[in-house]
Amino acid sequence: MKFFIDTANLEQIKEAQALGILDGVTTNPSLMAKEGITGEANIINHYKAICEIVDGDVSAEVIATDFEGMVREGEALASLHPQIVVKLPMIGDGVKACKYFSDKGIKTNVTLVFSAGQALLAAKAGATYVSPFIGRLDDISTDGLNLITEIREIYDNYLFETQILAASVRHTMHIIDCAKIGADVMTGPLSAISGLLKHPLTDIGLEKFLADYKKGN
Ligand code: E4P
Repeated sequence: MKFFIDTANLEQIKEAQALGILDGVTTNPSLMAKEGITGEANIINHYKAICEIVDGDVSAEVIATDFEGMVREGEALASLHPQIVVKLPMIGDGVKACKYFSDKGIKTNVTLVFSAGQALLAAKAGATYVSPFIGRLDDISTDGLNLITEIREIYDNYLFETQILAASVRHTMHIIDCAKIGADVMTGPLSAISGLLKHPLTDIGLEKFLADYKKGN
Protein backbone atom coordinates (compact mmCIF):
# COMPACT_ATOMS: atom_id res chain seq x y z
CA MET A 1 0.00 0.00 0.00
CA LYS A 2 1.37 3.42 -0.95
CA PHE A 3 1.23 6.26 1.57
CA PHE A 4 0.63 9.76 0.25
CA ILE A 5 0.39 12.81 2.50
CA ASP A 6 -2.56 15.11 1.82
CA THR A 7 -1.15 18.57 2.46
CA ALA A 8 0.68 21.51 0.92
CA ASN A 9 2.58 22.13 4.17
CA LEU A 10 6.28 21.70 3.38
CA GLU A 11 7.31 21.01 7.00
CA GLN A 12 4.78 18.19 7.30
CA ILE A 13 5.85 16.76 3.94
CA LYS A 14 9.50 16.84 5.11
CA GLU A 15 8.55 15.11 8.39
CA ALA A 16 6.72 12.29 6.60
CA GLN A 17 9.54 11.95 4.07
CA ALA A 18 12.11 11.75 6.90
CA LEU A 19 10.15 8.85 8.41
CA GLY A 20 11.00 6.93 5.24
CA ILE A 21 7.47 5.78 4.47
CA LEU A 22 6.26 8.46 2.06
CA ASP A 23 5.35 7.51 -1.50
CA GLY A 24 3.85 10.80 -2.71
CA VAL A 25 1.79 13.90 -2.06
CA THR A 26 -1.72 15.03 -2.93
CA THR A 27 -2.72 18.67 -2.91
CA ASN A 28 -5.84 20.58 -3.86
CA PRO A 29 -6.70 24.28 -4.17
CA SER A 30 -8.09 24.36 -0.60
CA LEU A 31 -4.89 22.86 0.84
CA MET A 32 -2.82 25.42 -1.10
CA ALA A 33 -4.98 28.28 0.18
CA LYS A 34 -4.65 26.92 3.75
CA GLU A 35 -0.86 27.42 3.48
CA GLY A 36 -1.36 30.93 2.06
CA ILE A 37 -0.10 29.89 -1.39
CA THR A 38 -2.05 31.98 -3.90
CA GLY A 39 -1.41 33.18 -7.46
CA GLU A 40 -0.29 31.02 -10.37
CA ALA A 41 3.44 31.70 -10.04
CA ASN A 42 3.52 30.93 -6.30
CA ILE A 43 1.47 27.78 -6.77
CA ILE A 44 3.82 26.56 -9.52
CA ASN A 45 6.89 27.25 -7.37
CA HIS A 46 5.24 25.39 -4.51
CA TYR A 47 4.66 22.30 -6.65
CA LYS A 48 8.34 22.40 -7.63
CA ALA A 49 9.36 22.70 -3.97
CA ILE A 50 7.21 19.68 -3.05
CA CYS A 51 8.75 17.63 -5.88
CA GLU A 52 12.21 18.41 -4.53
CA ILE A 53 11.29 16.97 -1.10
CA VAL A 54 9.61 13.70 -2.12
CA ASP A 55 10.61 10.93 -4.52
CA GLY A 56 7.11 9.87 -5.63
CA ASP A 57 4.05 11.22 -7.40
CA VAL A 58 2.75 14.71 -6.62
CA SER A 59 -0.84 15.48 -7.62
CA ALA A 60 -1.38 19.00 -8.98
CA GLU A 61 -5.00 19.98 -9.59
CA VAL A 62 -6.28 21.88 -12.62
CA ILE A 63 -8.62 24.81 -12.01
CA ALA A 64 -10.27 24.86 -15.46
CA THR A 65 -13.57 23.01 -15.81
CA ASP A 66 -13.66 22.82 -19.64
CA PHE A 67 -11.76 20.26 -21.73
CA GLU A 68 -9.50 22.73 -23.57
CA GLY A 69 -8.66 24.58 -20.37
CA MET A 70 -7.88 21.35 -18.51
CA VAL A 71 -5.62 20.17 -21.33
CA ARG A 72 -3.79 23.52 -21.40
CA GLU A 73 -3.32 23.63 -17.62
CA GLY A 74 -2.58 19.94 -17.27
CA GLU A 75 0.13 20.04 -19.95
CA ALA A 76 1.74 23.03 -18.24
CA LEU A 77 1.62 21.28 -14.85
CA ALA A 78 2.99 18.00 -16.25
CA SER A 79 5.91 19.88 -17.83
CA LEU A 80 6.96 21.30 -14.43
CA HIS A 81 8.46 18.04 -13.15
CA PRO A 82 8.38 14.32 -14.05
CA GLN A 83 6.75 13.55 -10.67
CA ILE A 84 3.67 15.69 -11.35
CA VAL A 85 0.36 13.85 -11.76
CA VAL A 86 -2.45 15.90 -13.34
CA LYS A 87 -5.44 15.97 -11.00
CA LEU A 88 -8.76 16.28 -12.81
CA PRO A 89 -12.30 16.65 -11.44
CA MET A 90 -14.84 13.87 -12.03
CA ILE A 91 -17.00 15.74 -14.54
CA GLY A 92 -17.61 14.97 -18.22
CA ASP A 93 -14.78 17.19 -19.46
CA GLY A 94 -12.53 15.79 -16.72
CA VAL A 95 -13.11 12.26 -18.04
CA LYS A 96 -12.37 13.45 -21.59
CA ALA A 97 -9.19 15.15 -20.40
CA CYS A 98 -8.21 12.01 -18.48
CA LYS A 99 -8.46 9.96 -21.67
CA TYR A 100 -6.44 12.62 -23.54
CA PHE A 101 -3.63 12.55 -20.95
CA SER A 102 -3.59 8.77 -20.55
CA ASP A 103 -3.26 8.38 -24.34
CA LYS A 104 -0.23 10.69 -24.13
CA GLY A 105 1.31 8.73 -21.24
CA ILE A 106 0.78 11.55 -18.74
CA LYS A 107 -0.24 10.38 -15.25
CA THR A 108 -3.67 11.42 -13.94
CA ASN A 109 -5.61 11.43 -10.69
CA VAL A 110 -9.39 11.71 -11.05
CA THR A 111 -10.66 13.48 -7.96
CA LEU A 112 -13.96 14.17 -6.21
CA VAL A 113 -15.19 10.62 -6.77
CA PHE A 114 -18.21 9.64 -4.68
CA SER A 115 -19.70 6.63 -6.48
CA ALA A 116 -18.69 3.29 -8.00
CA GLY A 117 -20.04 4.45 -11.37
CA GLN A 118 -17.73 7.48 -11.37
CA ALA A 119 -14.79 5.20 -10.49
CA LEU A 120 -15.69 2.89 -13.38
CA LEU A 121 -15.64 5.83 -15.81
CA ALA A 122 -12.26 7.01 -14.48
CA ALA A 123 -10.81 3.52 -15.05
CA LYS A 124 -12.31 3.34 -18.56
CA ALA A 125 -10.62 6.69 -19.32
CA GLY A 126 -7.27 5.20 -18.25
CA ALA A 127 -6.77 7.15 -15.01
CA THR A 128 -3.57 6.34 -13.14
CA TYR A 129 -5.34 7.01 -9.82
CA VAL A 130 -8.97 7.36 -8.80
CA SER A 131 -9.69 9.32 -5.61
CA PRO A 132 -12.84 8.27 -3.74
CA PHE A 133 -13.37 10.71 -0.83
CA ILE A 134 -14.24 8.51 2.12
CA GLY A 135 -14.28 11.14 4.88
CA ARG A 136 -16.68 13.42 3.01
CA LEU A 137 -19.07 10.46 2.53
CA ASP A 138 -18.84 9.63 6.23
CA ASP A 139 -19.65 13.32 6.90
CA ILE A 140 -23.05 12.84 5.26
CA SER A 141 -23.87 9.53 6.99
CA THR A 142 -22.80 7.37 4.04
CA ASP A 143 -20.22 4.62 4.54
CA GLY A 144 -17.10 5.83 2.73
CA LEU A 145 -15.27 2.54 3.22
CA ASN A 146 -18.10 0.69 1.47
CA LEU A 147 -17.27 2.70 -1.66
CA ILE A 148 -13.65 1.51 -1.49
CA THR A 149 -14.91 -2.10 -1.24
CA GLU A 150 -17.20 -1.63 -4.27
CA ILE A 151 -14.47 -0.09 -6.41
CA ARG A 152 -11.98 -2.81 -5.41
CA GLU A 153 -14.47 -5.49 -6.51
CA ILE A 154 -15.22 -3.79 -9.83
CA TYR A 155 -11.57 -3.12 -10.68
CA ASP A 156 -10.60 -6.69 -9.78
CA ASN A 157 -13.42 -8.10 -11.95
CA TYR A 158 -11.93 -6.47 -15.05
CA LEU A 159 -8.26 -6.18 -14.03
CA PHE A 160 -8.36 -2.38 -14.38
CA GLU A 161 -4.90 -0.98 -13.68
CA THR A 162 -6.20 2.30 -12.22
CA GLN A 163 -4.98 2.54 -8.62
CA ILE A 164 -7.55 3.16 -5.90
CA LEU A 165 -6.30 6.18 -3.97
CA ALA A 166 -8.43 6.37 -0.82
CA ALA A 167 -8.75 10.12 -0.22
CA SER A 168 -10.32 12.32 2.41
CA VAL A 169 -8.82 9.96 4.99
CA ARG A 170 -9.39 11.62 8.33
CA HIS A 171 -7.91 9.30 10.96
CA THR A 172 -5.71 6.29 11.61
CA MET A 173 -8.53 3.72 11.57
CA HIS A 174 -9.44 4.81 8.03
CA ILE A 175 -5.91 3.79 6.96
CA ILE A 176 -6.17 0.36 8.60
CA ASP A 177 -9.60 -0.28 7.07
CA CYS A 178 -8.44 0.83 3.60
CA ALA A 179 -5.44 -1.52 3.90
CA LYS A 180 -7.75 -4.42 4.85
CA ILE A 181 -9.99 -3.74 1.83
CA GLY A 182 -7.00 -3.47 -0.48
CA ALA A 183 -6.86 0.19 -1.50
CA ASP A 184 -3.67 0.66 -3.51
CA VAL A 185 -2.89 4.04 -1.96
CA MET A 186 -4.17 6.17 0.84
CA THR A 187 -3.74 9.91 1.22
CA GLY A 188 -4.21 11.49 4.61
CA PRO A 189 -2.96 14.10 7.05
CA LEU A 190 0.28 13.61 8.98
CA SER A 191 -1.75 13.13 12.19
CA ALA A 192 -3.46 10.03 10.73
CA ILE A 193 -0.12 8.58 9.57
CA SER A 194 1.59 9.31 12.90
CA GLY A 195 -1.31 7.65 14.72
CA LEU A 196 -0.15 4.31 13.29
CA LEU A 197 2.97 4.54 15.44
CA LYS A 198 1.20 4.74 18.74
CA HIS A 199 0.60 1.94 21.22
CA PRO A 200 0.78 2.34 25.00
CA LEU A 201 2.30 -1.15 25.41
CA THR A 202 5.20 -0.09 23.15
CA ASP A 203 5.90 2.91 25.39
CA ILE A 204 5.54 0.88 28.61
CA GLY A 205 7.70 -1.95 27.21
CA LEU A 206 10.44 0.42 26.06
CA GLU A 207 10.46 2.22 29.40
CA LYS A 208 10.95 -1.12 31.20
CA PHE A 209 13.68 -2.31 28.83
CA LEU A 210 15.62 0.92 29.39
CA ALA A 211 15.11 0.79 33.17
CA ASP A 212 16.32 -2.83 33.31
CA TYR A 213 19.34 -2.01 31.15
CA LYS A 214 20.29 0.77 33.57
CA LYS A 215 20.09 -1.66 36.54
CA GLY A 216 22.77 -3.87 35.00
CA ASN A 217 25.07 -1.00 33.84
C1 E4P B 1 -7.67 14.32 -2.05
O1 E4P B 1 -6.89 14.32 -2.96
C2 E4P B 1 -8.14 15.50 -1.34
O2 E4P B 1 -7.08 16.45 -1.37
C3 E4P B 1 -8.44 15.29 0.11
O3 E4P B 1 -8.18 13.97 0.50
C4 E4P B 1 -9.72 15.84 0.58
O4 E4P B 1 -9.82 15.60 1.97
P1 E4P B 1 -10.85 16.38 2.89
O5 E4P B 1 -12.22 15.81 2.65
O6 E4P B 1 -10.37 16.08 4.28
O7 E4P B 1 -10.78 17.83 2.53
